Amino acid sequence: MDLYSIENLTLSLADMTAKPLFGAAPRIEILKGLTFTIPKGAVVGIVGGSGSGKSTLGRALVRLLEPSGGSIRFDGTDITHLPEPALRPLRRRFQMIFQDPMSSLNPRHRVGTIIAEPLRLHGMEAVPARVARALDHVGLPQSFAARFPHELSGGQRQRVGIARAIALEPDFILADEIVSGLDVSSQAQVLNLLERLVADLGLTLAFISHDLSVIRRLCQRTIVLHQGQIVEDRPTKDLFAAPQATYTRDLLDAIPLPDPAQAWG
Ligand SMILES: Nc1ncnc2c1ncn2[C@@H]1O[C@H](COP(=O)(O)OP(=O)(O)O)[C@@H](O)[C@H]1O
Ligand SMILES: [Mg+2]
Repeated sequence: MDLYSIENLTLSLADMTAKPLFGAAPRIEILKGLTFTIPKGAVVGIVGGSGSGKSTLGRALVRLLEPSGGSIRFDGTDITHLPEPALRPLRRRFQMIFQDPMSSLNPRHRVGTIIAEPLRLHGMEAVPARVARALDHVGLPQSFAARFPHELSGGQRQRVGIARAIALEPDFILADEIVSGLDVSSQAQVLNLLERLVADLGLTLAFISHDLSVIRRLCQRTIVLHQGQIVEDRPTKDLFAAPQATYTRDLLDAIPLPDPAQAWG
């Protein structure tokens, strides 16, 4: 059963670099006809170079952006052009976690308030109990509810970001470059945590990264984006064993190998 079914998705944005004297800025097509599915319970990697359209795709999936063409179905509902009131009850079910937890967490709020905020927004009951459970899930002590974001390490802040998303008990989480700013050992801890949460909570996860070694660890399947198009969509181990697209081979070649004697199959 597919949680997401995406057909011929296109998305255009106003070109911010153009400054027309009259009328609206011209639109540039960022996503160019993407078709793929995300089965329930899957961990799908979305990889590609800078500017390939990964974040735009992510924002379209959680309807922070409205597509210009094609369709996005979420658990059977066509959400492509769904207006905000109709989207509201669905928003609890698809959550996004961002790269920089410092800029996405309100610095003046304590961790407990930060995690509670979306719960209150969605009118959920038993907010304190849900906050406590979320902290527990991400391996932070309950005392952290009283701390401020600046009192936490990068890895701990990212755990708060994850706690805030899972507190709503979503079906789907989109993680956009969430370990990019972390050192290698914090990266490994956050990846372990995500793996455990996917298994324990039955989450479906789309994990955006420009780092193929991270994708290789976490994702069963990988979608490679290049200039707003899908150039590969295959099981991750097949992709690493025999990349089909020239672009994917270039991406793989760019990964620094831990052991210089080691080569990709
Ligand atoms: N708000 C915007 N207006 C115009 N162009 C944008 C906007 N956001 C992103 N872009 C352009 O869309 C392309 C894809 O961006 P993005 O989805 O952020 O790529 P990625 O996350 O893979 O680095 C880039 O060329 C970028 O310059
Ligand atoms: Mg991005």
